[in-house]
Amino acid sequence: MSKKVLITRIIPGKAHEMLSKAGFELSVWEGSGPMTQPQLIERAKQVNAIISLGADKLDKHFFSQCSHLEVIAQFAVGYDNIDVAEATQKNIPVSNTPDVLSDATADVALGLMIAASRKMFYLHKTIERGEWKQFEPLKNLGIELSGKTLGIFGMGRIGMVMAQRCRGAFNMNILYHNRTRNAEAEKVFGARYVSFDELLQQSDVLSVHSMLSDETKGIFNKAAFSKMKRTAIFINTSRGSVHNEEDLIEALQSETIWGAGLDVTNPEPMHADNPLLQMPNVAVLPHIGSPTVEARNGMARLAAENIIEFYKTGKMLTCVNSSVLNKNQN
Ligand code: GLV
Repeated sequence: MSKKVLITRIIPGKAHEMLSKAGFELSVWEGSGPMTQPQLIERAKQVNAIISLGADKLDKHFFSQCSHLEVIAQFAVGYDNIDVAEATQKNIPVSNTPDVLSDATADVALGLMIAASRKMFYLHKTIERGEWKQFEPLKNLGIELSGKTLGIFGMGRIGMVMAQRCRGAFNMNILYHNRTRNAEAEKVFGARYVSFDELLQQSDVLSVHSMLSDETKGIFNKAAFSKMKRTAIFINTSRGSVHNEEDLIEALQSETIWGAGLDVTNPEPMHADNPLLQMPNVAVLPHIGSPTVEARNGMARLAAENIIEFYKTGKMLTCVNSSVLNKNQN
């Protein structure tokens, strides 16, 4: 009997094509938004495997109802919506989609950095309001990036691409703070490992590329912003909950830091009357790190490959709790 796979939203056709060709029976949620939790549980009960998205809450309750699942392939690099400890407890391997979206996400971080440093989003709005009148010798002054210091919080795959972009485009000096040292970043970009406090104190641009975890949740708060340079720009393209948004607003309003570029906010979606949207030195985007044709096709392919590989060999290409796979093989 063929295995059944639930895909919790319509994703690029490549995944559907690959899974159908490999003999899986697909159940696809075709709604224009995510399922409610009861709908998700109901549909998950009828399948062997899931391709999940960030909006699906695969929490303790979900796993208590769906412990029969054999494998979960998340269609995202982040998987903070999944209680992985609980999945591991239930012996369910979980994979994500790293690498394929690193270029796309780093491009957004780079774009936000440039946009914030030159007040681009804000100045664009002044044209729409009919406020562009004449050359202003003393107004709209931005900050140049060439030769400045970039601090990377979380030197993983996306952080590496951001470092490469900033080194190539602006010859920036690279500092980083990470759970572990990244020898490649040190060798290739001359990146220097520093403590969290040093990262805050020395960065001209501080770009967040870490996962959301108990350790990183809210780590960019009032105390952290107060240690940054008054001329610093804060960029976040990872998860909004890594920063405390009220503290960020306060840090910008009090000129404790100079600017910010956010692709992720807290909460999401950001409310249209959020004061950040009116600040000249701030650029905000609606969580668009991965939506390029290339990245989304790559994510679909990798999610499907993880499921196919699991049923073929008991392995996965990008498993985040591989202890389960090793245990199953013993
Ligand atoms: C997007 O936010 C992702 O985690 O892939």
